[in-house]
Amino acid sequence: MDITEQKTTKPAPLVGAHGARNGTLSHGIRRLDPRRAPVVRYVPMARVRIRRRRSLEPHRLYYNHSWLASSLFGLALGALGLRRFGRGVAALAGAIGVPLWRYATLVEPASPRLERVDLRLPQLPTALDGLRVGLISDLHLGFRFAAQNTRWAVEQMRHEAPELIALTGDFISFHHAIPDIAPLLRDLSAPLGVYAVPGNHDYWEGIADVRNALTLCEIPLLFNQHRRLEWRGGELWLVGLDDIWDGSVSPRRALEGVPPGAFTLLLAHSPDLAADAARFGFDVQLSGHTHGGHIRLPLLGPLGVPRFGRRYIIGRYQVGPTAVYVSRGIAGPPLRFLCPPEATIITLRSEGQGGQ
Ligand SMILES: [Fe+2]
Repeated sequence: MDITEQKTTKPAPLVGAHGARNGTLSHGIRRLDPRRAPVVRYVPMARVRIRRRRSLEPHRLYYNHSWLASSLFGLALGALGLRRFGRGVAALAGAIGVPLWRYATLVEPASPRLERVDLRLPQLPTALDGLRVGLISDLHLGFRFAAQNTRWAVEQMRHEAPELIALTGDFISFHHAIPDIAPLLRDLSAPLGVYAVPGNHDYWEGIADVRNALTLCEIPLLFNQHRRLEWRGGELWLVGLDDIWDGSVSPRRALEGVPPGAFTLLLAHSPDLAADAARFGFDVQLSGHTHGGHIRLPLLGPLGVPRFGRRYIIGRYQVGPTAVYVSRGIAGPPLRFLCPPEATIITLRSEGQGGQ
């Protein structure tokens, strides 16, 4: 897949959005320490006027043909059974279907798991061996269970205390949920920092307001930008890409100033950027976007996947030199089966130092 460098209007730069973690911002505005200040619910001032897009429009989701064929086969079998055995078959279908539906809509979407993943990386500087990255993706605030799962994920991060925390986009599903971002994420912290990249839903609901809300928690939203991080004398270059669906993706711009051969960790909302990440020589890519497909069955896989999430859908992949991990995300439409929400602790390992 080629990256099209689209011309997209960027939100106006925020005063002190990056680099002023404490004290006085440029223009002499004093920043409140959000951890000491009382909880402030951010009220968006201006909604970005964008064309409304519906994520469930059929042409934005790709359905699994095996699922469709199996469903048709199941329906035909059901009709045949109904004709031959009468109401008993309908009662049996109800006895199985109703509990399954309740499980998929009420139980699994509210049962997030903490996944632990070791990535074995031949290029990892020795000093970074064992460095842990906490990954939280696709909060989709506004949907049922999203806020409670996010609270759970933040609590997991506080308990696990990874060295770095990455948030890979889709903070909201509805504009009215933007005020929930700051109160939910304000307790996230890590020695190397907490960083975020935008997702397609953040653009659809108002990227400027999402960015403002994250700024309240001192979480930089990276648009084709990088940060040089240092841990025990080893260098890690964290690179955050803009969203490919509605943003303006440019790995080249993001890598300007990064020394050739440096160890790079890429945050990109959509996992299908992995082919391009490999072409640019990224060592690791962390993504979300697909939610693992929400509904999965053995042998059939996911029912459907979104645009830019068709190739790399769930878990780990190796794409050329790039180790990719795709999170199932925290929330989304509350319908999940064999695909529970997740927060992830990723441990970077030098090749041969353990791992799965
Ligand atoms: Fe998402």
